[in-house]
Amino acid sequence: TKDKFPNIKRGNYSVLKDGDIQYFEKILGKNQIITDADEVKSYNSDWLNSVCGYSSIVLKPKTTEEVSVILKYCNDRKLAVCPQGGNTGLVGGSVPVFDEVIISSTSMNKILSFDSLTGVLVCQSGCILESLMNFLKEKGFIMPLDLGAKGSCHIGGNVSTNAGGLRLIKYGSLHNTVLGLQAVLANGDIIDSMNTLKKDNTGYHLKHLFIGSEGTLGFITKVAIQCPPFPNALNLALLSIKSYDDVLWSIRENITNALLKDGYSYKYDISLSLQVFYQIVIDLRKHLKNVADVKTVCGYGHIGDGNLHVNLTSAKFNENILNCIEPYIFERVSEFRGSISAEHGIGFFKNKYIKYSKTENEINIMKSLKSLMDPNGIMNPYKTIWNLRDNLAEG
Ligand code: FAD
Ligand code: MLT
Ligand code: ZN
Repeated sequence: TKDKFPNIKRGNYSVLKDGDIQYFEKILGKNQIITDADEVKSYNSDWLNSVCGYSSIVLKPKTTEEVSVILKYCNDRKLAVCPQGGNTGLVGGSVPVFDEVIISSTSMNKILSFDSLTGVLVCQSGCILESLMNFLKEKGFIMPLDLGAKGSCHIGGNVSTNAGGLRLIKYGSLHNTVLGLQAVLANGDIIDSMNTLKKDNTGYHLKHLFIGSEGTLGFITKVAIQCPPFPNALNLALLSIKSYDDVLWSIRENITNALLKDGYSYKYDISLSLQVFYQIVIDLRKHLKNVADVKTVCGYGHIGDGNLHVNLTSAKFNENILNCIEPYIFERVSEFRGSISAEHGIGFFKNKYIKYSKTENEINIMKSLKSLMDPNGIMNPYKTIWNLRDNLAEG
């Protein structure tokens, strides 16, 4: 990451010492900690292989209480942390930028209850999406979201990124289907908002702060989610295609992998009104016509949700190409009054561009919330609203 983004400076955080490791071993036991350099490597590097940190430790708590003790300790010691689920995120948010302590939800994978009358599933945040789907299938229910990374991503990661995916048009976003959640703040306080009711208008809905906040406000430990019954009837659309080989989902689900094989992927995930939905791909092709080494400029996504994935590739990372795409693409999105992040989040890659989609007053409220909930700025630094937090630990 440092090689690719030399301007980013490590925040004024403490450096991990032997005493810290001994403390974590006392709390979690040796089996729930990884310090072996080879093993830690895969937690430092993201799915796209586009960013890589150099953390030397992964903590794998099993319970909310363990997360709470870890975070309280890190906050007191001013050790920065990086929450991680299945590490399939596409905006560089799930891996450390420098040496942040990685807190992985891998061992928090218990299904806690399922109510077949209401369809409410309660589980720990490290449950893999596909395992939840398989569990529900036997009960005649489905998860309200589905996405290509289902075999690896965790429900806590889905909630933290407010992942959209393939069922959003029918069941709405996770702001709609997550009924309650439990999260641990930077100082170790447990926020238990494990509502399982459909209606609950008692005060502010704190759960919404954690949905989509990409690990910057707290670590999600449990989720209660409304699951729809397995549909008894399907609406069938007849689509005319040239050959059997052209038939629709595995090709669609594998575009992301295919682009990765094409070279380095520059990924953009935008919302636009349907009137101008594809225009930006055509404009980008023109804009980049004379730029050397661009291989592919393509668009795909979730047309029903107004969400376009604009992707470009080159054989390897090329800073000149990046500078030709950014901020051009965000300026165009802003002109169209679209969103610079539809479903993948802001993460590490997009944080300086939030202003193209949010007003100054909105950004000020975000800054205030961040300072209130994480005054030492230890939760997932350098991500999401980092460049907006000029008065915190940066520099
Ligand atoms: P990670 O990648 O581990 O983390 C993502 C972010 O959440 C990071 O900022 C991390 O710090 C934070 N985080 C993780 N767990 C926690 C926690 N317990 N508490 C607090 N913060 C946490 N996204 C879509 O929206 N729609 C799609 O259709 C889609 N398809 C995809 C297809 C492929 C092949 C791939 C690789 C990715 C796809 N994604 C899609 C990206 C999507 O955001 C992630 O796959 C998924 O939601 C992230 O879950 P994860 O467990 O892997 O989280
Ligand atoms: C998708 O819709 O396939 C995912 O969001 C992944 C991607 O954007 O490549
Ligand atoms: Zn998508």
